[in-house]
Amino acid sequence: MASKSHQFNSNPLIFLLLGLSAIGVSAAGNGGIAIYWGQNGNEGTLAEACATGKFPYVNIAFLNVFGSGATPQMNLAGHCNPASGSCVSLSTDIRSCQNRGVKLMLSIGGGIGTYSLSSKLDARNVSLYLWNAFLGGKSASVFRPLGDAALNGIDLDIELGSSQFYDDLVRYLKSYCGRGQKVYITGAPQCPFPDRQMGSALNTGIFDYVWVQFYNNPPCQYTSGNTTNLIRSWNQWTTSIRAKKIFMGLPAATQAAGSGFIPAEVLTSEILPVIKSSPKYGGIMLWSKFWDDQSGYSSSIVSGV
Ligand SMILES: *[C@@H]1O[C@H](CO)[C@@H](O)[C@H](O)[C@H]1NC(C)=O
Ligand SMILES: *[C@@H]1O[C@H](CO)[C@@H](O)[C@H](O)[C@H]1NC(C)=O
Repeated sequence: MASKSHQFNSNPLIFLLLGLSAIGVSAAGNGGIAIYWGQNGNEGTLAEACATGKFPYVNIAFLNVFGSGATPQMNLAGHCNPASGSCVSLSTDIRSCQNRGVKLMLSIGGGIGTYSLSSKLDARNVSLYLWNAFLGGKSASVFRPLGDAALNGIDLDIELGSSQFYDDLVRYLKSYCGRGQKVYITGAPQCPFPDRQMGSALNTGIFDYVWVQFYNNPPCQYTSGNTTNLIRSWNQWTTSIRAKKIFMGLPAATQAAGSGFIPAEVLTSEILPVIKSSPKYGGIMLWSKFWDDQSGYSSSIVSGV
């Protein structure tokens, strides 16, 4: 995953996501913005993303090699090199974010990588790795790429490979909630319903936040002035999935995805007023911090989210 520049091309199988979420860092109300950070070294630090006050949820992207016996690998583009240990200082940023009330998830998967789960036992092994390397676990034998700070949860952006055993993975992860930390489970399915890679995991009903990628998928996204397919798909997701909150995932700039960008004024005047009536509405998810920096999108929409 040397370059992320082609992660958002027009093939719906190859995308990544982003997300957003809701809550209350910024708006006093119902929704909030979740954002993906990690795939461009020129997007500022994690602490800076949190210090904007605009993002109650930040997904750190990506752990893009795991499962089936592979040695797990994380990619944070130009930020630092997880394998060499140069990302352990992110623990300072992680604590700074959490002190502001921002929830941080490790996003696993993505549009470029090598990952799959080969069995229920493998799902258990990967869940233990995630617990010990990124969450509240402490194991002398497991290296922690982001240092000793514990993230709040795990985000699934499964876009490649088999769909199998992710339901087991999220059940194992959720079972660690009893060990002194709530483990948030979030996910970024693509909008065609049901999601072909994550459908069975979502059916467990244990996701806290689901930020659906309403982009790179013309049948269920906004297209040229027409909100029909987007709203129809939103309604299907919000009435079909047993998650605590659902977010509308969008590109933060026209160049951030192959298709599906919604001008800020269209989102705030035509779409937010409709989707906010859903009891499951959590807010907006954006891909990505880098693109948001270029466009200023989050600043344009945050008061309406
Ligand atoms: C279990 O996970 C570790 C990563 O923590 C990996 O290196 C190892 O190969 C896995 N074991 C099996 C049997 O898959
Ligand atoms: C919007 O898209 C829907 C679904 O493709 C279509 O049926 C409808 O006619 C379109 N509306 C307009 C105004 O173009």
